[in-house]
Amino acid sequence: MQATETYDDHIVRLFLLAAVVWGAIGMSVGVFAAAQLYWPSLNFGVSWLTFSHIRPAHTFGVIFAFGGSALMGTCYYVVQRTGHTRLALERLARFTFWGWQTACVLAMVTMPLGLTQGKEYAEPEWWIDLLIAVVWVSFGIVFFATLARRRIRHIYVANWYYGAFIIAVGLLHIVNNMVIPVSLTKSYPVYSGAVDAMVQWWYGHNAVAFFLTAGFLGMMYYFVPRQARQPLWSYRFSIVNFWALISVYMWAGSHHLIYTALPDWVQSVGMAFSLVLLMPSWGSAANGLLTFNGSWHRLKTDPAAKFMVLSLVFYAAATFEGSMMAIKSVNSLSHYTDWTIAHVHSGSLGWVAMITIGSLYAMAPRALGKPMHSRAAMELHFWLHVTGTLLYIGGMWAAGVIEGLMWRETLANGSLAHSFIESLLAIKPFYVVRWLGGLFTLAGMGVMLWNLWHTADDARARLINPIPVPVPEPVRDQTPEPLSSASGSAS
Ligand code: HEM
Ligand code: HEM
Repeated sequence: MQATETYDDHIVRLFLLAAVVWGAIGMSVGVFAAAQLYWPSLNFGVSWLTFSHIRPAHTFGVIFAFGGSALMGTCYYVVQRTGHTRLALERLARFTFWGWQTACVLAMVTMPLGLTQGKEYAEPEWWIDLLIAVVWVSFGIVFFATLARRRIRHIYVANWYYGAFIIAVGLLHIVNNMVIPVSLTKSYPVYSGAVDAMVQWWYGHNAVAFFLTAGFLGMMYYFVPRQARQPLWSYRFSIVNFWALISVYMWAGSHHLIYTALPDWVQSVGMAFSLVLLMPSWGSAANGLLTFNGSWHRLKTDPAAKFMVLSLVFYAAATFEGSMMAIKSVNSLSHYTDWTIAHVHSGSLGWVAMITIGSLYAMAPRALGKPMHSRAAMELHFWLHVTGTLLYIGGMWAAGVIEGLMWRETLANGSLAHSFIESLLAIKPFYVVRWLGGLFTLAGMGVMLWNLWHTADDARARLINPIPVPVPEPVRDQTPEPLSSASGSAS
């Protein structure tokens, strides 16, 4: 009976499609926001098109709609393969897909209309938050129920990261969104003053930690060894890094509030833990990169592997930069400047987007039962994305350092050497560079959509009547091979 069971990849395909569509939408809004910073009249005097209204739509679109869909889809894919079992509670899993998409659409529509809680990365109003909470708990139930019915004793490390991501994000979401609703469009937080700020940045920072880091590390620990066709460089090291990352990250959040009303010692704790955080961050980056030892030749022919390797380089770079920015004297230069925006996009376009794109390219042929329609298009996507990312972060680094230096320069009499508007004029050219970088990245997403569409088209006949496809050669000790060799849906 068990030998004929196949994986539930229908849900995986739905999330795969949603991730790429949301990626293109979220990045389009980012490109539009970047254009407005150079040509402010592009808001056409329409309130819901103003920068302040579309900025949260960009961040929600890319982090939760794009990143979230990719994380949920890959999580369902990975937990089945590593547990040698089919997804548990399939109806609930379907609900998580439609519930998550509904929450994303509601958030993306209400935010430009100005209906927000005014908390960064937690903008949606209370009734959307309730839906998100229900979907998230359901997602956790499906994941842990599948884990519980696994056929092998060992829980592969990717699942540890996915599990931590699910538990921590649920906790963060519920605690930070404790509000008193007064109407459908308005609510007030139960926290006030500095406590509200502290809770918000405990949330904001750990959203980076568990959504943008732990979840994507789960993806990395499964797909990198698969694509390198080698076992993980050190399995034991991956577990050490897991516990180190999980226990250190929660304490570093106050580095977002350096030189604010927060008690000085709380800021220092954040700074100290941010420096310690570099070790597990580089540990995972090194583990992933060293897994390619003996497989570097694959980079010549496999664009998915190229995305993965570069994502790990960016992960190492962004975490090093973050640890440095948490040092008080460095933060006094970088805070409020575009340097922060460069750091964010080195982490998000460099690490998050590249590991996602690489993993989706690795997963799509297995979930669709067909090789990608065009390898040349994948190659083109890689170069468009790399060019766009380098233009974006190069431009914003230059702008950030110029701003920081101009703002702190004083004359002999102690007054400021430059007005704010002078600093804006100095960095204006870099805003065009960022916008161009965004266009390149967005074009890359367009190429990915086209390629996936054609791959799905090629695979359509197989999806209606799934036939077993051979899984590429066995790759590792730790990632168990599939239960049966079919990667199509059993439904
Ligand atoms: C060792 C790891 C990291 C450390 C210590 C760190 C540290 C920091 C610091 C000090 C800031 C600036 C706070 C400020 O001046 O306002 C910051 C901002 C930020 N970082 Fe990191 N970072 C790390 C990794 C990452 C990664 C991998 C990402 C992934 C995308 C990321 C995303 C962000 C975001 C989104 C912000 C902006 C938050 C906001 O103000 O809205 N960070 N980080
Ligand atoms: C086409 C690519 C992209 C473009 C053109 C773009 C553009 C922008 C712009 C213009 C801002 C506002 C900056 C400001 O307030 O000064 C921004 C903020 C942000 N973007 Fe992007 N973005 C892109 C991709 C992404 C991706 C893929 C992610 C995450 C996965 C991301 C995450 C963020 C975050 C977290 C912020 C808020 C940063 C902060 O508050 O410090 N972006 N982006």
